[in-house]
Formats: sequence, structure tokens, C-alpha cells
Amino acid sequence: MDILFATSNPHKFEEAAAFLGQRGIRAARLPFEHRELRSDNLEEIAREAVDSAYSVCGKPVFVEDTGLFITALNGFPGTYSAWAQKKIGNKGILKLLSGAGDRSAFFETCIAYHDGKSVSFFSGRCAGTIAEAARGTSGFGYDPIFVPEGHPQTFAENILLKNNISHRYKSLLEFSKSLEP
Ligand code: IMP
Repeated sequence: MDILFATSNPHKFEEAAAFLGQRGIRAARLPFEHRELRSDNLEEIAREAVDSAYSVCGKPVFVEDTGLFITALNGFPGTYSAWAQKKIGNKGILKLLSGAGDRSAFFETCIAYHDGKSVSFFSGRCAGTIAEAARGTSGFGYDPIFVPEGHPQTFAENILLKNNISHRYKSLLEFSKSLEP
């Protein structure tokens, strides 16, 4: 089966294409520069984006929106994670958390799939903590500062682990199950 993934992020595409490929689903990338809807709700953002992607390509297509939700910051950056990454980066997040007792956080991904008739959603969450300092060189975005629950390394230090337990992995797993004949 062939499917389109509309994204401007090559890292996301790489992770998704590798996962789907192992399950016999060939993903092609629809380069998609899109001004994201402002909302506190990942599903709402993904819904608007997949409608827009479908209106461009007219074929079954999926998008995904991801956020990092930090407890001590009342869920910030959350759905504003792309903006925060650009403006303050991992350094800025670590600064905001200096002295914080609670460093818990989670990543959440919401996939929205437009099959030509209707839109379906698939979510995945990965809990963890924010490291004291950035560590590792693999992955992208917040990977160097995110330590998944039950593991000592950051996602950027152990990308194989990330690909087997991450928010994206979990949402893609549900999505791929829904595509099974
Ligand atoms: P968006 O889903 O494209 O809005 O991305 C939100 C922000 O989170 C971007 O700055 C991404 O770099 C970052 N991000 C998305 N997915 C991941 C991930 O799996 N690991 C680390 N950072 C991520």
C-alpha cells in the first residue's frame, strides 16, 4: 500500500517511513509548508492541517502534530512546541526549569488521516523527564533533553530506543493497524 505523509519536517518523515515500511506500507512525502492553526488542542491542529493537505493533493494523506508538555510549566510548550523550539530552543527550556523539583513531561503525537471520505485520529504518548543538560546527537528537536520513563538515556543518546517506544511510534502503530485489510 502507498500513502502520502504531508510534512515539512524530514526527521518526522524518516521516522514514519521507516516504521511504516516495516509493515509493508510505502510512505511518500508531500512537502507541506503550512501555517499551523493556533490552538491548545493537537487534534484540532492536525484536523485543520490534514483538510488543507487533502485539498492540495486530492489523495489519501496523513499529517501529524506533536507537542512536548512539561508539568512544571503547566504544559508549556505543548502545542506551541515548534514556536518555542525556534525562539528559545532546548537551552531556553532548561533555563525555565532551573531549580524545578518536578521535571516530568510527556510527548504527545496526534496523527490525522484523510482517506478521501473522512478523517480519523491516532494518538500516542510517551512519558519521561527533562534532563538537567542536553545529551546526545541523534534525533531532532527536544530529543537531547527528553529522558523516557524507565531509561537512563535521552532520546538523542538512544535513537533505537526512541523508535521503539516513542509517542510517534505509538501513534503510527495504531494508524498502521487501522490500515490492515
Ligand atoms: P510540530 O509537530 O511540527 O508542530 O513540531 C513541534 C516541535 O516539537 C518542533 O519543534 C519539533 O522539532 C519538535 N518535535 C516534534 N517531534 C519531536 C520528537 O519526536 N522529538 C523531539 N522533538 C520533536
